[in-house]
Amino acid sequence: MPAVSATACAKLILLGEHAVVYGEPALAVPFSGLRARAAVEAWIGAPSGRIHIFARDLDLDQEFSELPENNLIRSALLLVLTELGIDRLPTCKLHLTTEIPISAGLGASAALAVAVMRAFSAFLGHPLAPERLNSLAFQSEQLMHGTPSGIDNTVVVYEQPILFQKSQGFEVIKPAADLHFLVADSGVKKATALTVRQLAQDYARNPGEVGALIKDIGQLTLEGVRALTQGDFPALAEALNANQELLTMLGLSCPELDTLLHAARDAGAAGAKLTGGGKGGHMLALIQPEQLEQVRAALLEAGAPRVYHTVLKAEPSNA
Ligand code: MEV
Repeated sequence: MPAVSATACAKLILLGEHAVVYGEPALAVPFSGLRARAAVEAWIGAPSGRIHIFARDLDLDQEFSELPENNLIRSALLLVLTELGIDRLPTCKLHLTTEIPISAGLGASAALAVAVMRAFSAFLGHPLAPERLNSLAFQSEQLMHGTPSGIDNTVVVYEQPILFQKSQGFEVIKPAADLHFLVADSGVKKATALTVRQLAQDYARNPGEVGALIKDIGQLTLEGVRALTQGDFPALAEALNANQELLTMLGLSCPELDTLLHAARDAGAAGAKLTGGGKGGHMLALIQPEQLEQVRAALLEAGAPRVYHTVLKAEPSNA
């Protein structure tokens, strides 16, 4: 039996991270060039009920039974078995690789879970439809992060630009023009669960001020969506910069991110902000294509260990 393989993309939150946890809208796009890949194959000759996991990017070369209870791969496999009503472990090997940096704001945990669930459910003969997969990926995110909004798993599963709001689900957004982004690593690892928890504590201490900043972020997201769908580049850039200011006021930036944000803007990027959980991880800069090399050079010069270029493609609108 040949191996069954599947992939899942990374993601970028353009506007609205953190505020989305409190019910505000947020805008996320797939980062399709960076992916997690899973392949499942029968393990011929092994005693039944054994799964071996090979994931060198995660430092794993282990049997399922040896994984700790809170391990992401273990829980992704178990969620699929439960969903399919299978109560015995199949005998197989799972190979997992990822290009997505971990704890860096790019949705690695959602992408790993989705790639594993896609490959494993297909191996078992019941590939999961997107809605079921998204619901399982959300449960996986809850196990990993406590109180996720659901935006990361949703953009990773559907791999389309989405406007997401907890109470309303998601709407696919169609950019009116191609948009070029540079995405740079601050070099600081930070688990999203930590920054989400920190903001929750600040909110509890100071609901008036923090709540007002969160509402303002929601407004900026809507302004950004309007700009994106109308091809209004300056307004989108302005929304990104204003969102960064609010995130800074919420204590979610850090010196390494600030250095990269200033470097990108000084080199000509119209808009720049952190993306994802913050206090480390990645930042993004909205650029015109002709600025690519100068902004990339400035980010590297300012200390970014890695800089990626990604293009959000224009889509014909239905309207
Ligand atoms: C993390 O990618 C986005 C946050 O808003 C958390 C969440 O929405 O679950 C920080």
